[in-house]
Amino acid sequence: MDIQNLLDDIVGTIKPQLGQGETARYIPQLGDVAADQFGISVATGDGEVYASGDSEVPFSIQSISKVFALALVLAGDGDGIWKRVFREPSGNPFNSLVQLEHEDGIPRNPFINAGALVVTDRLVSITQDAAGAVLDLLRTESGNNSVQIDSAVAQSEARHSHRNASLAHFLASCGNLENPVQDVLDAYINQCSLAMSCTDLALASRFLASNGICVDGTPLLSSPQTKRINAVMLTCGTYDAAGEFAYRVGLPGKSGVGGGIIAVVPNNCTISVWSPGLGRSGNSIAGVAALDEFTTRTGLSIF
Ligand code: DON
Repeated sequence: MDIQNLLDDIVGTIKPQLGQGETARYIPQLGDVAADQFGISVATGDGEVYASGDSEVPFSIQSISKVFALALVLAGDGDGIWKRVFREPSGNPFNSLVQLEHEDGIPRNPFINAGALVVTDRLVSITQDAAGAVLDLLRTESGNNSVQIDSAVAQSEARHSHRNASLAHFLASCGNLENPVQDVLDAYINQCSLAMSCTDLALASRFLASNGICVDGTPLLSSPQTKRINAVMLTCGTYDAAGEFAYRVGLPGKSGVGGGIIAVVPNNCTISVWSPGLGRSGNSIAGVAALDEFTTRTGLSIF
């Protein structure tokens, strides 16, 4: 299979779907991004990269950062985090408040906002600079030292963080935060505000397709830990659309409201797509369609 031809073809096939859905409206920096953009990149285990469309345009990675924060926490102190966060799909929107109260301040999974705040809290404890640790990992694994936090996005996120602040305060009231609410919020906002391209993200995700082994050959995660992160991505990575994503794409994946998605073909490759138009659950409409097309045409899925 000629992957480059396939990606070029997907860029053409996906065109009619560009602009469908809505860009994230809660901050202008995301709401105003041109919705007709689309990029796709594939990074293989043997170091090849294939890319097409707007694959080199940096975008706000948002919730995709939650995967890397979780990887660093599991690498830093093993399974302890699972006492503070479940790993079940929530079936609710990513920023929902209601379930957290019913379940006594233990978030359903590490990828909804409540769970990600707990993970970032732990990363603050381990590193003192959680967003810096995520940034370092992403720079090293992508090989791109110009990856950075978009400060305009971060400032805007901070001004519109009431919902995440509510979640963080509720977690604190249940004794499920180790650090001050503001420190955790700042770190979470900064990690969400990292800007990267599809190619950067496909490269940076390779350890998830390589049994936890980093680009320099050292292990970030053990093979079982990598299996478990991928399992949580499959079941929870696209929120209340995780069933539909598994049905259509058949791979572990993680989305962000910037319109990016990463997907992992274990022991083979990573795929990153980006298009800013989002569906009801906050996942890129054209991005999911492109991943569906990719796995359906290549047979590269876990099923
Ligand atoms: O915290 C938030 O709500 C946003 N900064 C990130 C949410 C997000 O990306 C959900 N993904 N689809």
